Amino acid sequence: MPGHQQGRGLCPECAELMKCALFDIDLTELPGLDDLHCPTGPIKEAQDRAARLFGADKTFFLVNGTTVGIHAAILSLCRQDEEILLPRDIHRSVIGACILAGVYPRYLPIELDAEFMIPLTPTRQEIEEELGKNPEIKAVFATNPSYYGLAGDLAGIVKTAHDFNVPVIVDEAHGSHFAFSDRLPATALSVGADISIQSTHKTLGAFTQASMLHVSGSLSDNNEVARQLKLLQSTSPSYILMASLDATVAHMESSGRLIVEQAIDLAFYARSEISNIDGLKCLGEKTKGKNRAIAVDPTKLYISAQELGLTGIQLAEVLLQKHRIQVELCDQMCILCMITIGTSAENVERLIKALKEIVVGTRTAKRENLWEKIDNIMPQPNVKMSPRDAWFSDKRQVLLKDSEGEIAAEIIAPYPPGVPLLCPGELITREIIEAVRCLKKLSVAFQGPADPEITSVYVVSR
Ligand SMILES: Cc1ncc(COP(=O)(O)O)c(C=O)c1O
Repeated sequence: MPGHQQGRGLCPECAELMKCALFDIDLTELPGLDDLHCPTGPIKEAQDRAARLFGADKTFFLVNGTTVGIHAAILSLCRQDEEILLPRDIHRSVIGACILAGVYPRYLPIELDAEFMIPLTPTRQEIEEELGKNPEIKAVFATNPSYYGLAGDLAGIVKTAHDFNVPVIVDEAHGSHFAFSDRLPATALSVGADISIQSTHKTLGAFTQASMLHVSGSLSDNNEVARQLKLLQSTSPSYILMASLDATVAHMESSGRLIVEQAIDLAFYARSEISNIDGLKCLGEKTKGKNRAIAVDPTKLYISAQELGLTGIQLAEVLLQKHRIQVELCDQMCILCMITIGTSAENVERLIKALKEIVVGTRTAKRENLWEKIDNIMPQPNVKMSPRDAWFSDKRQVLLKDSEGEIAAEIIAPYPPGVPLLCPGELITREIIEAVRCLKKLSVAFQGPADPEITSVYVVSR
């Protein structure tokens, strides 16, 4: 990321303009240039054009990424002390939105893929069960797809939520390109979701931070979304970012299908080459949950070298140092490589060649299976206080070993699997303390805690 890959995925005229005239287009609400917060001119036209392209009733341009769109979506649909139904592996902006809105998260069960140790998507039965029991739930939240490219039965989830008259917000940060090929998982809007928020900068050609929020149907209210965005977005939105969104829309209107199909062809080629390399495995068609529908975005290559005895971190290091290839993400398990509309055939050939060379030079003992150790130590959360109350309460730092029975005031999320062990407002149990210890021993990285060693943890003062 970003998807434009240093301009290669942007339409050539726009890339040239951005290169030569960046200062010229860095303007503000001058006469004729419209106002993002009350658009009636070119910004309105550009947003309307985007709505037509992506199949929305209304599209809003975002200058603070999908993060601000998630905040606005949740604030528009949920009120203080109401509930939102969520998978546990949500982006931290969702917890941020719960803090801002005073909303209680109600989490769905977690199931990890046994081989790649990443979270699978919820089922419609799980949604139905929770909505049937909990009338306080005012919105269902889904991610389509995950960072790793896994999607699930979004159509079933939307249908189930709508049967209860509950709207569905979809974090589609990694799915802006889905609208341009039938070989990709379905878009949220195509299966009837009410709000979809897409990081146009991640998988299409816009500049970093430039995203879109799409609204559709009658269960969400455009005016309410606009009101929340007015509160949250800058009063000086960047015209450079907005222009890059408009340029992306123009580019995708004229060539979207072609360039996305080309990227998918490259991705399938890379997948088949990588799966022929002895010792490497790529998350893909064979991935399946016990009872879960799975759809895979083929442009995300989540590659394991476990059989060679290499962690993703080690593999990424060799790719960078020896082959000058920067991966999107690496962790204890795998590396993640992305093929976007800016990726060239040469980039893909270099990756395949480098992987082949690394494999020939590496034969260490097969690594122990992390999943077997981690799967049974991911406890279900015990929400004792709203994230908002925990966030704004007085806090104190205590030693992790002495924190049993306290209420967490910060997020602690191990990667992999990217499922938080603790969020603000949740009870710290002996099981969780043991899980942190065990994950630290396995050198798993953590996001969120103020103390990176997690010897201590912030808790709510009582
Ligand atoms: C799943 C997911 N949702 C939301 C976001 C936030 O998107 P943005 O960076 O556009 O604010 C990210 C960013 O990494 C993400 O991975």
